[in-house]
Amino acid sequence: MVDDFSRRAEILPRSQEEIAENICDWFVADVDGELVACGSLLRYSESLSEVRSLVVAPDYQGTGIGSKLMRELIDLARERRIRSLFALTRSVEFFTKMGFRPSRRESFPEKVMRDCLPCPILEQCDEQVMLLSFD
Ligand SMILES: CC(C)(COP(=O)(O)OP(=O)(O)OC[C@H]1O[C@@H](n2cnc3c(N)ncnc32)[C@H](O)[C@@H]1OP(=O)(O)O)[C@@H](O)C(=O)NCCC(=O)NCCS
Repeated sequence: MVDDFSRRAEILPRSQEEIAENICDWFVADVDGELVACGSLLRYSESLSEVRSLVVAPDYQGTGIGSKLMRELIDLARERRIRSLFALTRSVEFFTKMGFRPSRRESFPEKVMRDCLPCPILEQCDEQVMLLSFD
């Protein structure tokens, strides 16, 4: 799923090794044994993680699976005492419904260094930074 969506530039690619090394940070959803969605947290610091690789197979989008996975990711973040979750996304409406609010890319310099600066479409990037902070 990650390969499919990253080929269409909807999410960033992740290698199989990277996924395997951080498998405790992933959730998947299946319908009758068929994998239909996945999503993960990527740790930046003790208090900050990114919502990464959250995708739902096209036939199952709009059926509530994405919000269920996001709620699991939020619960996991809270369990880990993470204070803030952020994401770079074009699905602003979905993230807003999940409680995220728009933020500024400059607030996440490590993300910019790691993923944005090497990106060939940096100048044309149409993704919005969304942030969810816990009390
Ligand atoms: C974004 C995505 C993960 C949402 O998952 P989903 O299962 O389709 O979302 P849900 O069915 O749980 O929808 C939750 C709410 O968000 C809304 N929503 C979901 N995707 C939306 C979109 N692209 N645009 C506008 N609203 C959207 C739904 O209408 C729904 O609203 P409602 O509760 O008022 O009915 C999924 O559509 C997807 O995989 N998109 C392509 C990849 C992507 O952009 N991933 C995010 C990268 S960080």
